[in-house]
Amino acid sequence: MEIPVNAERLWQRHLEMARIGAIAGGGVNRASLSPADRASRALMVRWAEARGFGVFVDPIANLFVRRSGREQSPAVLTGSHMDTQPLGGRFDGMFGVLAGLEALEALEDAGIETLLPVEVVVWTNEEGCRFNPGCMGSMCFTGQHVPADFHDVEDSDGVTFGAALNEALAALPQARRRSFGPPPTAYVEAHIEQGPILENLGKTIGVVSGIQGVCWYEIMVHGQSAHAGTTPRSARQDALCEAVAMIAALQAEFHDPTDTVRFTVGKVVVTPNSPNCVAERVLFTVDLRHPETAILRRLCDQVEAICRGHARHCRLEIRETLTVNACTFDPRIMTLISQQAAALRLPMTVLPSGAFHDALFLQRIAPTGMVFVPCAGGISHHPSESASPADLAAGCRVLAGTLLALAS
Ligand code: HGY
Ligand code: MN
Ligand code: MN
Repeated sequence: MEIPVNAERLWQRHLEMARIGAIAGGGVNRASLSPADRASRALMVRWAEARGFGVFVDPIANLFVRRSGREQSPAVLTGSHMDTQPLGGRFDGMFGVLAGLEALEALEDAGIETLLPVEVVVWTNEEGCRFNPGCMGSMCFTGQHVPADFHDVEDSDGVTFGAALNEALAALPQARRRSFGPPPTAYVEAHIEQGPILENLGKTIGVVSGIQGVCWYEIMVHGQSAHAGTTPRSARQDALCEAVAMIAALQAEFHDPTDTVRFTVGKVVVTPNSPNCVAERVLFTVDLRHPETAILRRLCDQVEAICRGHARHCRLEIRETLTVNACTFDPRIMTLISQQAAALRLPMTVLPSGAFHDALFLQRIAPTGMVFVPCAGGISHHPSESASPADLAAGCRVLAGTLLALAS
């Protein structure tokens, strides 16, 4: 049964949300639990309350919008995240949240009563760029962690996640508090593909088969600051020189002629970061991914040895902050998504996700799947990230039909 999704309302809400944290080039910067992130959450709550939906937050500020069903049993859950990269796009995460809200509103507009409640969730800190690691909200919801594990994690200004979390919870007094509840009946997340496959194949809907595995490290190289002009090389403990040697060695080790391994050093923080001072300390991150868990593990097991092998005069601290095996999604959910796309005569294909999502954790506690729509040129984590109103509406129709099938 098709549900009358309102494509214009969905598109206009993307534009309205994109004004919060807007940056040059048409992108957004809404760091997790920042004032901009809190403002987007407040706008989501205003839209939810205007339709009489229930609004809840859990102990790590995951935000839930609930449309009741005839029964109280565990909700069918959809949603995504609203926090973004510093040079983020308007659709990464936001599409899954707004498509979920539009599905609830379309059910309401059509006067459809579901057997089970349907909820849209806004996960806390999916991106992990302000507070490392990502997916803190979904990891706590699924029992991989407790919020206290992250309370002392600091951002680059020394603000702790715990302090930012308390501020975010206090900023939503109208949201009812609830504990980490039972597993949802099912979880379906809509997201832009963040890659070029759908666009290259001319497909509108991606039925996601799974997500590749990912490991994150924070590597701290401790040297000694010294005068650039008077300190001979033989007397230096140069944290930057040694960090550069480590990164080059990791790059060489993880070079993959099949171009399947994804190795990224995206963040380097140098202290004191002065042109005429030998670096005292360098923090750099490693993001390592592979679709096969055994290969990923073998690669990750080399990180520490390679770094220690290039620590000549400096002391090393290595923290593995995220380790997640590759996952495959529930075939029943994939079938439901495919049936919805077929019923709407939308061209579809099955594909894996190179990006991680909160669904990577939800699939451990509930039948889980994802719906992808194309993004222009496969560009994401960039201000020029773009998706068409028609593709967003098509993805939302498939999501709404899948949620209705699951909630009936
Ligand atoms: O990094 C990721 O894969 C996701 O986009 N946060
Ligand atoms: Mn995302
Ligand atoms: Mn992202």
